[in-house]
Amino acid sequence: MSKSILLIPAAGVGERMKIGYPKQYFPLLDSTSMLEVTVNRLQDMYLFDQIAVVVSRNDSYIKQCHFHGDVCIFPCGGETRAESVLNGLVALNPDDNDWVFVHDAARPCLDRDSVERLKEAIESEAIDGAILAMPVTDTIKWVSSSGLIEKTIDRSHCYRAQTPQVFRAAALRAALSQAKGTVTDEASAMETQNAKIRIVEGSAFNIKVTYPDDIEIVRNYLLNSVQRKDY
Ligand code: C5P
Repeated sequence: MSKSILLIPAAGVGERMKIGYPKQYFPLLDSTSMLEVTVNRLQDMYLFDQIAVVVSRNDSYIKQCHFHGDVCIFPCGGETRAESVLNGLVALNPDDNDWVFVHDAARPCLDRDSVERLKEAIESEAIDGAILAMPVTDTIKWVSSSGLIEKTIDRSHCYRAQTPQVFRAAALRAALSQAKGTVTDEASAMETQNAKIRIVEGSAFNIKVTYPDDIEIVRNYLLNSVQRKDY
């Protein structure tokens, strides 16, 4: 029986937040950091057999974190997100067929229904993996480096990739080893192997905290979410 393992890369610096320390440690709800909110929300769902977090080798913040249950902490982050995920997979050493759900530490608003839709997709269809994504609603322009529009992309084929992204452990490890840190999500690495990857509807609130303005959106959502009990 293959296990469901959650792997959270949290080894980035988050420079665009401009707070002087890694954004995953930003105090999101009172003194509770973004990383604690992300992990604890997912722990409270009881949908994973194991949860692991990858932090950077010189991380001095993780020891102050309080999680709701067992979490394996791997201080083996790399230069890029893809390297951090690959190093985490090597440290975790899961069985080849285990399903690894990779989720950004910087997406604290993931909801239970989205995770259940992902699980249903991999259980009900012969696919290599699945990712949460949202259809693009804006018109998409392809722009030259000088800022001039070159063309309009047919948005009916465009989706914004979110996380979690789930793949079999061995296949993901092989794909990331070959991709050599250049890819910005797991699906990109798996695409190079011609993997069959299903798009599963995510949520508009599953945003990746990137800029200071994102904090207010995420905070409001989370405070309402506690009342809704949607996790
Ligand atoms: O920087 P960005 O927001 O795209 O990062 C997405 C996720 O990947 C974050 O949770 C971040 O901590 C993680 N990451 C990582 N190792 C890196 C860069 C990013 O674990 N070298």
